Amino acid sequence: MIIGGTSGIGLALARHYAEQGAELALCSRDITRIDDHELRTDPHVQTFQFDIADRAALIRALHDFGKGGLDMLIVTAGQYADANDLASESGLGLQVVQTNIVGLVQAFETAAELMQRQGHGHLVAVASVAGLLEEYPGGSLYSASKRAAIGICDAYRKALRPYGIAVTTILPGYVDTAGLRKLNHGNARAKPFLRSEPDAVRRIVHAIEQRAERCIFPWQLHMMVRLFNSLPSSLQRLRRK
Ligand SMILES: NC(=O)c1ccc[n+]([C@@H]2O[C@H](COP(=O)([O-])OP(=O)(O)OC[C@H]3O[C@@H](n4cnc5c(N)ncnc54)[C@H](OP(=O)(O)O)[C@@H]3O)[C@@H](O)[C@H]2O)c1
Repeated sequence: MIIGGTSGIGLALARHYAEQGAELALCSRDITRIDDHELRTDPHVQTFQFDIADRAALIRALHDFGKGGLDMLIVTAGQYADANDLASESGLGLQVVQTNIVGLVQAFETAAELMQRQGHGHLVAVASVAGLLEEYPGGSLYSASKRAAIGICDAYRKALRPYGIAVTTILPGYVDTAGLRKLNHGNARAKPFLRSEPDAVRRIVHAIEQRAERCIFPWQLHMMVRLFNSLPSSLQRLRRK
């Protein structure tokens, strides 16, 4: 099951796993967004429309799809908030927290119950390299929510290890998705060390196959983040984005 599987990284992962012959559930708030005829008509692909923040709907979908077993849950659903929007759009901060933090916990908790019963499973969350940044002036709530997501994954990994359930956290840098392009007026090419969706899928799938704890890419951006974090905070705050 991929929550956030109708666009960007989630949709690219869906295409990969569909090619492998997986039984898939693709979920989002608007499933009509799936811009892929093959996936839409694939008899092995089910769709579920809900907001990850809606606990009752999330549980219904997970139980419905998971009644025959649930090998893997991937959560890519995420909400970005720029500092300017945060100041002007009432409710946006809550939406970030409900999607990136509360929704993630609800999804992990429900899937983990199903996986514990069957004695195996794999939980995967797409956080962000932004979650490693100590100062992120343009998107500090987003960054804080992704830092929380990383911590949530760490906590579930420890709790679920005795039950044979793995937890993998993905920390991507910039990936050229519909979501990133929308945030950048239709073109994300100026973003440093931008990766394509197929490149991101290759790295994520490899990490999942290895049952890796964390997958951080690209290494260049990871190095930059570590460098920024080592600067005095007064210098870190000079960065605009
Ligand atoms: N692209 C990047 O550069 C980048 C870098 C680092 C981290 N990330 C993270 O990677 C994840 C995927 O990003 P992306 O660029 O692939 O985004 P995207 O193209 O906008 O896709 C996001 C997907 O999540 C779904 N979604 C969003 N909010 C949801 C909600 N409340 N409930 C259920 N589904 C929801 C969207 O569908 P609906 O809108 O129809 O619900 C869509 O299917 C996000 O968590 C993002 O923060 C992305």
